[in-house]
Amino acid sequence: MSKSIPHGGKLINRMNLHAMEDYSRNFVEIDSFELSDLELIANGAYSPLEGFMNQKDYESVVYQMRLSGGLPWSIPITLAADREKVLELETGETINLIYDGTIFATMELEEIFYPDKEVEALMVYKTMDLNHPGVQKLMNRPDYYLAGPITLLKRPPKDKFVDYYIDPADTRQHFQELGWKTIVGFQTRNPVHRAHEYIQKSALEIVDGLFLHPLVGETKADDIPSEIRMRSYQVLLEHYYPKKRVFLSVFPAAMRYAGPREAIFHAIVRKNFGCTHFIVGRDHAGVGNYYGTYDAQKIFSHFSEEELGIKPLFFEHSFYCTKCENMASEKTCPHDREHHVILSGTKVRSMLKNGELPPKEFSRKEVVEILIQGMKEIYVN
Ligand code: ADX
Repeated sequence: MSKSIPHGGKLINRMNLHAMEDYSRNFVEIDSFELSDLELIANGAYSPLEGFMNQKDYESVVYQMRLSGGLPWSIPITLAADREKVLELETGETINLIYDGTIFATMELEEIFYPDKEVEALMVYKTMDLNHPGVQKLMNRPDYYLAGPITLLKRPPKDKFVDYYIDPADTRQHFQELGWKTIVGFQTRNPVHRAHEYIQKSALEIVDGLFLHPLVGETKADDIPSEIRMRSYQVLLEHYYPKKRVFLSVFPAAMRYAGPREAIFHAIVRKNFGCTHFIVGRDHAGVGNYYGTYDAQKIFSHFSEEELGIKPLFFEHSFYCTKCENMASEKTCPHDREHHVILSGTKVRSMLKNGELPPKEFSRKEVVEILIQGMKEIYVN
C-alpha cells in the first residue's frame, strides 16, 4: 500500500461557503453530533458520502457493512427528525440544516424513512443495552431519518486548538510536501500513554510518517476532555518524538464506541485524510466489556486490503515489563503477568482525580503533570 486514494476514487467537496442563506426554506434543527458529521461529509473525510444516507445505503451498511454499491462502510451516517417535523417536510424540497439558530447547510431532501433502531443497535453495536453510550445515543434520537446530499454553507465555529483542524485535501497536500509516501494514522480518545507511544513508534519504524489524529468531537462524560488531551500530545511530541516525522491534527467526529465496526470506519476515514496504514491495537474504540480484546482486528478479515485501500497494522496489548525493563507484549515478553505494569483507564482517571501519579512506566511524567493540572481545573470549575 504505497499510495492513498480516497475511498470511492475521489475526495468529495460539498462546501459552498459563499452561497447566501435562504431563510424562507423549511428547516431541521440538528444536534452537535450531526453537525460534526455534516462538516466531515462536506470536507471529504467521509468520501464517497455526499450527504446523509438513504434507506438503501443505510440498510446495506447495517446488514452488510457496505454501501449499496458494494464499497466497504461500517457505520450509518444519518440525520434524525421527529414525526412532527417530518409531517412539515416534503421530499424533493431543499431544506436548511440549523444548529443553535444558525443555518450551516442545505440538504436536498430525497427520502424520509423509519429505521429499525433495534436492528441498528444489534448489528452496529452488538448490543441493545442502554448502558452502552452509543446505543443510548441511538435510542434517544428522534424516530425518522432524513436523507439526501448536503451543501455546507458555513464552517462550524472552532474555539479550541483552531490551527489543528485540517481538511483531508490539506493533510494530503502536507504529506506530499513532507515527502511522505507511507503514513500511519493513529486514532485516539485518550492521553498518549507509554503503550500508545510504543505502538506508534513501532509503526514509525516501517513507515515515513505518523499522523496523530485524536478524536475531539463528542465523547462520553468520563473521557478526558480534548483540551487537556491536546496539551498532553503537544508536550509529548515536544520531548519524545522526531518533529519531522509526526503530524498532529484533530478529528472532529463524535465517538460512537462501536468497537470493531468503528475501527473499520476510523481506518477508511483516515485513508481519506491521506494515510496508507492505520493502527488497530487492543479493544479499539471499545467501551466496558462489550467487545473482545481483538474483535476490532478480526473484523478486518471481512474485507480485502484492496477494497479497504488502507493497511491495518495490528498490535497486541502492550505494557511495560519490569523484567524486560522495556515495553512489550505477549508476543515479545516471556515473563509472568505479575511483572507487567497494566492500569485500566478507570483506575488512571481515579488516580489523577486524587492527585496520585500513575507510575512512569505507564505514563511519562510530562503527560501526568498535564493531566493532574487538567483534572484540578475541571474539578475546581
Ligand atoms: S480509542 O477508543 O480511540 O480506540 P484509545 O485512545 O484508548 O481508544 O486507543 C487508541 C489506539 O491505541 C487504539 O487503536 C487502541 O486499540 C490502541 N491501544 C490502546 N491501549 C493499548 C495497549 N495497552 N496496547 C495496545 N494497543 C493499545
